[in-house]
Amino acid sequence: MDICVIGAGYVGLTSAAVLADLGHSVSCLDTNREKIKSLTSGEVPIFEPGLEELIRRNRSRLTFDVPTHERIKSAPVILIAVGTPSSPTGQADLTYVSSVIDLIAESLTTYKTIITKSTVPPGTNDWIHQTLVQKGVDPKLFTIVSNPEFLREGTAIKDMVDADKIVVGKQKDDQQSLAIMEEIYQKINAPFIVTTLSGAEMIKYTSNAFLATKISFINEIARICDQYDVNVEDVVKGISTDPRISPHFLNAGIGYGGSCFPKDVRSLVHSSLKKNVKPTLLQAVQSVNQTQVDLYLDKLLTVLPDLSGKKITVLGIAFKPNTDDTRYSPAVALIQKLSALGCIVHSYDPQAHLPVPQKESVTQDRTVQESVEDADCVVIATEWDEFLNLNWQDLKKWMNGDLILDARNCLDPTVIRQHGLRYLGVAKS
Ligand code: UDX
Repeated sequence: MDICVIGAGYVGLTSAAVLADLGHSVSCLDTNREKIKSLTSGEVPIFEPGLEELIRRNRSRLTFDVPTHERIKSAPVILIAVGTPSSPTGQADLTYVSSVIDLIAESLTTYKTIITKSTVPPGTNDWIHQTLVQKGVDPKLFTIVSNPEFLREGTAIKDMVDADKIVVGKQKDDQQSLAIMEEIYQKINAPFIVTTLSGAEMIKYTSNAFLATKISFINEIARICDQYDVNVEDVVKGISTDPRISPHFLNAGIGYGGSCFPKDVRSLVHSSLKKNVKPTLLQAVQSVNQTQVDLYLDKLLTVLPDLSGKKITVLGIAFKPNTDDTRYSPAVALIQKLSALGCIVHSYDPQAHLPVPQKESVTQDRTVQESVEDADCVVIATEWDEFLNLNWQDLKKWMNGDLILDARNCLDPTVIRQHGLRYLGVAKS
């Protein structure tokens, strides 16, 4: 099947590469000419394990280009995968979706299935339909399908190929799209969840909001555990054998970040308030997450009350391991807060770069050793394997002080202490 994917971010690129791998002929379009140039020359502009190789393997079925009417005209299926960032009010900014709709409206002469993969608020796909009709497009010439993605950065390909479900939201009178969707995903062994357009939009938001809720929930429990000298990991172990709870997404730490959870919870809160539903729980989820970095800073201040002039090394800049993404990264927020407190902050990450500009007191180093040299305290802010497997003996030698702050609950305190270092964590000692 000929599929035109619009947007070459991590969702668009992963979808395009996987769809090509499934045997479809895919053109992936993006307005960023530089990006298209590097993709065409075989370079993948994002760090996503396996993606470069998958693209290389499928180059005969995968082309990259800037959006043109011809490209859109020639494909019977259009998949929208452009970004929907947060606007200052929390509402999802649909500027990119809007411009794609304009382009589609100008190019629609033969029948198209228009699939929205971008995360959009409830009601958006109905609005897309109305907008196309208002722009003079014959409603018989297109159908809109909502087909949200559930891809995690770092495991995006696996998440798409081994999907636990394929969500298809369709219009009430749509009799044809389901067969098209089944053909597209024929080689993926996952159940179809068929619902309305808004139903699919809500599934995506609910999924992310629920996972964010689990994280804030365990972070709040960790705050309580900390006061009673209880190890939160024991509590998780104790509750997660119950299949109704499950052990996943219950790692306490510095909080959730990334391009999805913070933005999608905000957007859902906005959609809720718009309809006069008070999103009490979702707002509490946000509030816990927004204060996690301060919680860890307060913990540090209990041991080092005067941080001014101290050298603090933050290991990890990305919002989670196996990605170079720093969007809404709690590690970056921590670095900025430490610098505001007068610390000399050094940081290191195997893949991610500190967003610019940063204050003069903030440095990114090229190796752990360079970064840790003479540090008064080392903070683990992203649980990269490299940090889990550190040689603590060496670290102790390189440091000036002996304090390790485990902001991801990822270290074994006994091992840290065995090397003459002091371990500091929340609800873990
Ligand atoms: C998420 C969803 O998992 C994915 O389904 C959706 O399509 C996009 O958003 P992603 O943003 O890549 O994926 O990251 P994820 O692995 O879900 O982690 C999000 C954040 O939560 C990270 O900052 C991570 O460190 C944090 N986290 C995760 C915790 O703090 N504790 C946990 O137990 C799990």
